[in-house]
Amino acid sequence: MKTEPSVLTSEQTSFLVRQRVARLATASASGEPHVIPVCFAFDGRLIHIALDEKPKNVSPTRLKRVRNILENPNVALIVDRYSEDWDLLAYVMVRGRAGLIEPRTEEHAATIRLLRGKYHQYERMRLEAPVISIRPERVASWGALDSLESVEPVMDVLLGRRSVRRYLDKEVPEEAVERVLEAARWAPSPHGRQPWSFVIVTRRETKERLADTMGEEWRTNLEMDGQSAEVVEKRLEGSQRRLLGAPMLVLLCLCLEDLDVYPDAERQHGETMMAVQSLGAAAQNMLLAAYSLGLDAGWMCAPLFCPDKVSAALGLDPKLTPHALLTLGYAHGDPPKRRSRKPLDELVVYRD
Ligand SMILES: Cc1cc2nc3c(=O)[nH]c(=O)nc-3n(C[C@H](O)[C@H](O)[C@H](O)COP(=O)(O)O)c2cc1C
Repeated sequence: MKTEPSVLTSEQTSFLVRQRVARLATASASGEPHVIPVCFAFDGRLIHIALDEKPKNVSPTRLKRVRNILENPNVALIVDRYSEDWDLLAYVMVRGRAGLIEPRTEEHAATIRLLRGKYHQYERMRLEAPVISIRPERVASWGALDSLESVEPVMDVLLGRRSVRRYLDKEVPEEAVERVLEAARWAPSPHGRQPWSFVIVTRRETKERLADTMGEEWRTNLEMDGQSAEVVEKRLEGSQRRLLGAPMLVLLCLCLEDLDVYPDAERQHGETMMAVQSLGAAAQNMLLAAYSLGLDAGWMCAPLFCPDKVSAALGLDPKLTPHALLTLGYAHGDPPKRRSRKPLDELVVYRD
């Protein structure tokens, strides 16, 4: 993975990657300007723009923006937020040089994966034309880049949320954490009992302890599955990096003492399952709240496989059972790939 220093600050990056539309300005060799709205994705280094197949009466490479870039690679791209509350206004303007990534190359394939991860609409398009890529050189910004106010409708938040596995080195504001936890508090739960505890981890030593404990367990399991030493090391390293690189971890625990007690195992199992289901609802509330606040999150199942060890590593009350871990922070860039979804007709059964 390339680790060139970015010309964007972490505030500018986190604002940029959360926007879904930008305006791209190009100019012809004679300086005639041209501006259009574009969908884009940022991989932490380059900004990519697909030439898609919306009905256009010219081939993608005859488009004015492409002809301009071939004549004059200097471009500007602006993302902004408008609100009637002018305390929320903000923009980031990137100036740089644009080029084309040619199809049937590995770089083109990776870029298309990145764009499809951000815009599901691209999954149904062939996207065989070159991709415009901009290397940022100068960046200007203004306004409330870090505002926690969301101006996105709920369906946009729902569809925009994605799992993030690499974060910027940028602290999560306390107010944002409080709002994410508040969202969890309002999740539905069996008998309204809220059988959960949320353990917040931010200190590096604590993250290391947790990562070491879960890593040990995972190593045992991977070796038991017959994975090669190389694969085991690579996967453990990735997981360690992910945990230590996230500004904040939230461990979601169940407190089964809060549930009803039944004389038969079957109903007791049902009761436990309801608690687990509600933990999932609390987790999803947190993921959506985080996303709507301009943050990103990722879900890790590791604690589920070694709850006692996790509990011991963090010195938790024995009545709490660790179940899931959420990483929280600001995405380093748009995630490189995101799984597409099954169509609804594979998921829904109608019985009139
Ligand atoms: C219960 C559960 C456990 C998960 N565990 C992990 C995990 O351990 N590691 C991981 O990278 N992603 C994990 N995920 C995230 C999924 O891989 C991710 O949600 C899925 O690929 C869809 O991608 P998206 O969240 O970007 O839409 C988990 C998700 C759920 C619901």
